[in-house]
Amino acid sequence: MREYHLAVIPADGIGQETVPEAMRVLDALAAVAGTFRVTRTEFPWGSEHYLRHGAMMPPDGLRILEHEGFDAIYLGPVGDPRLPDSVTLWGLLIPIRQQFDQYVNLRPIRLLPGVRGPLADKGPADIDLVFVRENTEGEYSGAGGRVHAGQPDELAIQSAVFTRTGTERIIRYAFEYARGHGRKRVTSATKSNALQHSMVFWDECFARVAADYPDLAHDQYLIDALCARLVLRPETLDVIVASNLFGDILTDLGAAIAGSMGLAPSANLDPTRRHPSLFQPVHGSAPDIAGRGIANPIGDFWSLELMLDFLGERGAAARLMGAIERVLAAGRALTPDLGGRATTREVTDAVIAALRESA
Ligand code: NAI
Ligand code: MG
Repeated sequence: MREYHLAVIPADGIGQETVPEAMRVLDALAAVAGTFRVTRTEFPWGSEHYLRHGAMMPPDGLRILEHEGFDAIYLGPVGDPRLPDSVTLWGLLIPIRQQFDQYVNLRPIRLLPGVRGPLADKGPADIDLVFVRENTEGEYSGAGGRVHAGQPDELAIQSAVFTRTGTERIIRYAFEYARGHGRKRVTSATKSNALQHSMVFWDECFARVAADYPDLAHDQYLIDALCARLVLRPETLDVIVASNLFGDILTDLGAAIAGSMGLAPSANLDPTRRHPSLFQPVHGSAPDIAGRGIANPIGDFWSLELMLDFLGERGAAARLMGAIERVLAAGRALTPDLGGRATTREVTDAVIAALRESA
């Protein structure tokens, strides 16, 4: 029996509703699979913590996550209308990504059977993509500053940072992932026409790494044209590697064409496994629906699937994905974002029932 120790941070808004349900699913899956056990430590970090203590997490928060033997971190969304988004994001999520060198942000996007996507004439066979987003540098490096605050000549500089190590390793991860998961093509998101330093450099790194993978097709596409291609011809895309900003934007578009923000999962990975990796849904804290019990928890469950896959529990991961797919395909429990009337809890109960049926 393998045992995993999980740090759980439900955080803000609908995270308070979806994360506990995700943990119910995880417990049910562990019981059904019988090959692993999960112990959990929950941390009440996030915007409430900020409002009470002036910080999103305690000063030794990162040390706790790093040194208390966690195999993974499961995080809900951060964001609260009472606080600036830059404070909440830079107070919890981005420090974890950077300090733990979680340089891969992995975001699969699929139109699941039973979900009606917004693109006419595109079905599940057309929308099946994996985004590999750089997660520690690029446009979100944090380099820059502001001077002459409040003066007419006030200015702000936000510098993108692209290192050879950082760029090559994310591109290499995309090719390795493609090879390891039966994918056929890697597409690079670029903008080397306008960004003649950083993105020309990115293209050179891409060409160098691609040469090591003659078994995989590769191409590069300007980011603006790639947005159009994602909507018009998603079936021509497979694995997409992108910088931090480009990947951030593309994956919301991806989540939209797959039917709902509430479905999209993500993994923040340190592939070297020196630090714990972090798993979370793509969606934010959704203040517009928080507290009503109607948030879609599927993106949270799918994020658990990514976690189990990364931990090596591939059988359990496949079983969970199968249960999610059966519930959606049967239209058994759909939340309002998918055109249904089910509550968060009813979707969870349906997925747990599907897991038990598969046992
Ligand atoms: P959002 O993802 O919270 O909401 C966008 C829209 O999608 C809303 O209409 C919302 O109701 C809907 N939605 C999102 N998740 C859903 C779910 N699970 N089920 C049903 N509907 C869902 O993005 P928004 O409104 O831009 O941001 C709200 C807050 O969340 C902000 O403070 C923002 O900074 C934060 N945020 C945090 C993220 C994170 O921690 N990973 C990611 C994105 C936003
Ligand atoms: Mg985003």
